[in-house]
Order: sequence, then C-alpha cells, then structure tokens
Amino acid sequence: MENGKSVDNTLLSNGLVIDGKFYPKKNLPSGTLRIILTTACNFQCVYCFNEGEVDKQVRVQSLDKLKKIIRVARTFGINSIKLTGGEPLLYPNIEELLMFLQEEKIGYYDLTTNISLLTDETIAMLNKYNVSSLTLSLNTLDKDKYCYLSGTNNYELVMSNLERVLKKFNGKLRINCIVFDENYSSKDYLQILKLCRDNNIGLRFVEPSIVEGFPITYSKEKFKILIDELKEIADDIIVSDCASVEYLVFGDWYLTVMHSLCDNKICDACRDYMYLRVTSDDKLKPCLRRRDTEVDIDFSSEDEMKKCFVKAISNMGRGINE
Ligand SMILES: C[S@@+](CC[C@H](N)C(=O)[O-])C[C@H]1O[C@@H](n2cnc3c(N)ncnc32)[C@H](O)[C@@H]1O
Ligand code: SF4
Repeated sequence: MENGKSVDNTLLSNGLVIDGKFYPKKNLPSGTLRIILTTACNFQCVYCFNEGEVDKQVRVQSLDKLKKIIRVARTFGINSIKLTGGEPLLYPNIEELLMFLQEEKIGYYDLTTNISLLTDETIAMLNKYNVSSLTLSLNTLDKDKYCYLSGTNNYELVMSNLERVLKKFNGKLRINCIVFDENYSSKDYLQILKLCRDNNIGLRFVEPSIVEGFPITYSKEKFKILIDELKEIADDIIVSDCASVEYLVFGDWYLTVMHSLCDNKICDACRDYMYLRVTSDDKLKPCLRRRDTEVDIDFSSEDEMKKCFVKAISNMGRGINE
C-alpha cells in the first residue's frame, strides 16, 4: 500500500489504471520490457547509443533479479520481452534466461543481435527455447562501410552467419537498419530492402538517435528524401497510431519506417505502448533520452517492486524538455 492506495493496478483490455489514471495500450496486446542483459560488446559501433546507458562500464545483469523483474512486469500486463545489450549473446546466463521465458509462457520474446555470434549451436539453442524473433542489426551490405560503422573486420563472418540464420532459425527475423547520412545512397538501402523482400523477412529503416560525440553526419532531410523515394514506389502507406512508425507496403511484404520519437514531439507514445527499459544497473527507464525519470528497483519485496513499476509507468510520456 502507498498513501492508502493499493499499488496493484487494474488491467483492462485496452489499458491500465494506476492510481485512478488511465494508461491506454492502443491496439497492442501487451506492453514491452526491453532488458539490457549486459553492457559488454564485441563490436565498437561508431554510432552506438548504448541503449541510453550512462557510462561504458561493463555490467552483467543478475539472473535472479531478472526473473523477479519479469514476474512483476507480468502483473502489469507486460507479455513481450526484448533482450538487448551490449551484445545479449555475450550474457553468460542466456540459456537459463531463455528457458525461464519459455517456462513462464511469455507471449513474445525477441533478441537483438549484431549477428556475429550466431553459430549453429547458438541458433539451435534459440530454437530450443522458442525465441519468437531475432532483430538483426545490419546497416549496409558494403564491406568498407560495414567495417567502419561496426569498428570491426567481421564483415565476412556476419554475412555467413546471416545466411545461416536465414536457413536455420525457426522464429521471425527482421533487420534493423539505421539510415545514416554519411553512407546515404538509395542504392545501399535498396540492396538491403531487396535482401529482406527476397527472403520474406522484416526490415526496419530507423532514424538514428544522436548521441554525444556522434561521429556520423545525419540529416532529417536525407532520411525524408529516401523515405519519400520509397513511398513513390510503394503500393500503400499505413501510418501507425503512434505516428512515428509508418509501414510501406510492397505487394505482400512491408517495410517499417521508424522516425525518431522525441524529434516528432510525440513523446507520450512510449507511455501508450508501455515501452519500458531495464538498465544494466537495476533501474526502470521510461525514456531513452532522460535520466531523471529513471526509477531504482527496490528488490526488498514484491510489493516494493510493484511500487517501482507504478512510479516508472507514471513517469512515461513526460517529454524531453519538461
Ligand atoms: C545497442 S544495440 C544492442 C544489441 C546488439 N549489440 C546489436 O547491435 O544488435 C540495439 C539496437 O540499437 C541500435 N542502435 C545503436 N545505436 C543507435 C543509434 N544511435 N540510433 C538508433 N539505433 C541505434 C542498433 O543498431 C541495434 O539494432
Ligand atoms: S553491436 Fe550493438 S551494442 Fe555493440 S557497439 Fe554495436 S550497436 Fe552498440
């Protein structure tokens, strides 16, 4: 109990009531928890926003704490988990965590990866625990640009792993492609589009989040030019409820275009969709761009953990310039 009110929420089919305030979930079946499993990474991408983490220290999440967090998140209607990092396949307890997600019957769990660690054994493990989808980060098919952007010489490895995962992974696949100004050429992006369409896998063109010291030039105008070119040849264009996401339909395949949320001044989309992050140092993070709305998770009891969720959810959608 907090101030005489129960911290328990009321879950409605179309949203959530917390302390008398209604948080709509629009058309999504559930909210999403995006978890940073470890900040360790085997790449040094020049553009990396570190999922909003503050420093470059290597941290690894405790499996026990993660299990507690996920169990409490479920009581808030969160039934979709996105595992990220750093590189989530470097997480030492990844297999135990996936087993837990399967046992808990989580509706949807996705892992975002830089592709470099997708060996036969790893793909077999992901299949064994019924991982719903993999988000594969790939911004270009050009070797030189790839090596520059990723800070590695892993181009061949990544390409052969990509071929392997296309053949062997049982769940859904999608490529996350950040559209940078510096390697802007419609040709680059059309190549990735063709690869995804030919293999019938998802593709997202993502507007980059600009981080301090961002070494790559980026302009909204160039992004718009590319998307407008594609809109001209698309069969249909669907704008999502949240307006920062558009779907460009090409036959029976579609491309997802992710505009930067905050730049479009529709910050409250994250609240409507209940998109909450768990940082590597045990904080609930409602906004990628803000630190002051983060909430330290109190693990002392389940009720205290629920209070932290309530606080974090109420902190959503407060904008970045409030
Ligand atoms: C931080 S990475 C962690 C997972 C994994 N290491 C990977 O790269 O897929 C998660 C996603 O964020 C994307 N990302 C990284 N920096 C970004 C930025 N400045 N703007 C937008 N997306 C970014 C990556 O491309 C990747 O798809
Ligand atoms: S692979 Fe992912 S976490 Fe690692 S540096 Fe690149 S974007 Fe960041």
